[in-house]
Parts: sequence; C-alpha cells; structure tokens
Amino acid sequence: MITVNEHYAKLQASYLFSDIAKRVAAFQQSNPDKDVIKLGIGDVTNPLPPVCVQAFHAAIDEMATEAGFRGYGPEQGYDFLREAIAVNDFQARGAQVQADEIFVSDGAKCDSGNIQELFSLETRVAIPDPVYPVYLDTNVMAGRTGGYADGRYSGIVYLESNRENNYIPALPSEPVDLIYLCFPNNPTGSTITKEQLKVWVDYARANKALILFDAAYEAFIRDESLPHSIYEIEGAREVAIEFRSLSKTAGFTGTRCAYTVVPKECMAYDAQGNGHSLHALWNRRHCTKFNGVSYPVQRAAAAIFTPEGKAQTKGLIDGYLDNAKIIGSAITQLGFEYVGGDHSPYIWVWGDRDSWDFFDLLLDKAGVVCTPGAGFGRCGQGYIRISAFNSRENVITAMERISQALG
Ligand code: MLT
Repeated sequence: MITVNEHYAKLQASYLFSDIAKRVAAFQQSNPDKDVIKLGIGDVTNPLPPVCVQAFHAAIDEMATEAGFRGYGPEQGYDFLREAIAVNDFQARGAQVQADEIFVSDGAKCDSGNIQELFSLETRVAIPDPVYPVYLDTNVMAGRTGGYADGRYSGIVYLESNRENNYIPALPSEPVDLIYLCFPNNPTGSTITKEQLKVWVDYARANKALILFDAAYEAFIRDESLPHSIYEIEGAREVAIEFRSLSKTAGFTGTRCAYTVVPKECMAYDAQGNGHSLHALWNRRHCTKFNGVSYPVQRAAAAIFTPEGKAQTKGLIDGYLDNAKIIGSAITQLGFEYVGGDHSPYIWVWGDRDSWDFFDLLLDKAGVVCTPGAGFGRCGQGYIRISAFNSRENVITAMERISQALG
C-alpha cells in the first residue's frame, strides 16, 4: 500500500499566494466590471532590461547553429556566469566568494526550500515570524515540526520581529542549529546593519549552527553602509549559505534565474561530531536533481553585469523604489504607521485590525490587492504588506483609491 507523507496534513490550507490568487479570482468573477490593481505578490511588472533581451536573442541564435548549439550544460552553471557573479556581486564588495562556490539555479524559492534536505530531521530550526512561508512550510513537509496550534508549529523556534525590536529579531533563548534570516526582509521591508548581522554570525560560530541568509532583495539597498551579503561579515564563510535571485533584481520572475552560495568552509556535523562539507553535499544534490538553467537564460543573466546592464537594472529598481515612496507617503497621510520601502519593494503597514479584514476591505472598496500580514505568521497579524511592483500609473491610482476608501 502506498502511504502518504502525513506531515503534509499539518500544513495550513494552501500556499499563501495561491490562496490570495483564488480569493482575487472569486472577487473578479462576482465583480466583472471592477478593475483590480495587484500590489500583492512581489511579482515584477516592467519588461526585461534591453541588455538581457539582446543577450537572450544572441544566445538563441547561437543555439540555432551547429557550432553554437549546446545540450546539457554544467549543473552548477556556466563559468561565464559564475565568474561574473563572484567578481561583481561579492569580490567588488570585499566578500571573498569564489566562482566555484556559486550554484546557479532556477529560483531562490526552490533553493531555499530544497536546502533543508541536507540537514537531519532532529535539526532545531529557528524561523522568523513574520516570514516568507517557504522556509517554514518546507520544514513542515520534511517532518521537522509537530502540529499547528494558535498560529504556531510545535518544534520550531520562532524569531519574533515587531515594532518593539524594530523588526530585527533577538537571538534565540533556546539552542538552535539552523537559522533562517532574510534582509532586506520579506515581508517587513526592514534592513539589518553589519553590526547587527555580526551578532548572528558570532552566535552561529559559537554554537556550530548554520545561517540560511536570503538576500533576494539586496539590489534594493541604497544605503551603502548596509550589508548586501552576509559574507561582508567576518567569519560568515564558516557558518552561512546565501540565496540570491535575479527575479527582483532584473525582472526575471518569469525568466527564472537565481543562485546559491555555499562556501567551502561551511560544515554540518554527524552524530560523532565530524564535519561534512555542505558544498560537497549541495553539489551532489544539485547534480542528482537538477540539470542546469538554460544557456540563453544564463547569457541573459550575465548581461546584467555589463556596465549597461548595471545601469539598466539600477534604473528598474529605482523605479520600484519611487513607487514605494508614493505608497509610503499615501499611507502616512492616511495616518497609518509603516516600515520598509527605503531599501525594499515592500511596505509593511500597521492596520490595527485583523489582516484579512483589511485585505478584504481594500479589495472590496478600492479594488486593490495587498497581502495580509497574518499570512506570514502570527506576528504579522494586524499588518498588511503592500508591494511596489506595478506601473507608476497603477500605483498612483491604487493609492488614490485606497485614500478615498479609507479617508
Ligand atoms: C512575495 O511576494 O513574497 C514573493 O514574491 C514570493 C516569491 O518570491 O516567491
């Protein structure tokens, strides 16, 4: 008899963003005349940068020739891309990451969900609250948690981020082995300083723990004193894996390209205390389960590291950050408190009411989709997240409609 993975039964309803999409579809079906503006899921709306499009076309033309055709590529990514990443995203900022420590993939969602396979089921996991749901749900699926009650899974150590701690969680008060951190943060949009991040690196080194650092939004940082990478912090190479994505950086949500950095010093330990290289284990997993990102996509990705590519991606992100300012100022005028938006595409608004009620109110009265904070965890209750990913025109219209609905 085939038996089911019963851990799936512990999961809450459907995946947050699928749940929202269903609610919006139902609303649109019963209100076919209402125009809906989506500031919910962080999905980019601007076209790919022209340098990426040119590189994409050129690579497809190469593939159409006998000499230029390529079949399976290296599972870890082509050297031209790995080298461009190592030099531009890390070495240029003083972070010592080498090209062969970079694993190119089709998404930071997949990588941050799959990485937990490398760790034992006994691993004590610390997860922020509120949080991007993938970290938590994949640990639930794997069986690292107990049941769900009152907004929490037993067996998880929750790292609470709230107004009191300025959305930077405190170190856990009980021992943990695996720590998820995300800065600039999704969903709160908050950032972390080098000094604050060093506290976590020092903790991980002292406790032989590992940090999974999600830096998918680093390209939105505009204060150069803030760390773009955890490897800007001394000692992090021993205790941190970092996830990066081109989705928000260069508009690749539909094109798919991301990467994970696993430094050669990073270890996980067996029951006898012997260290095992996580670089070797992730390489083994990657080669077994993944056949690489397509050649044209990797060529398009490498184009962002050219001078024109850097200027064009910065222009894209500046546009979204300007949208975030418009959202923030409308929210302030309405008398709500918020954080985020300065170094992040997300504005985290304290609504002082149930998150889903606020979500429904904005959808019904303004035809605007946001994300209810409660969907990111218990500490998100009372908040909504508004995303800056849309056209300027739509953002202005959405905020006018919200102002009218709530004003
Ligand atoms: C979000 O809206 O939180 C993210 O865009 C979802 C994702 O990146 O998978």
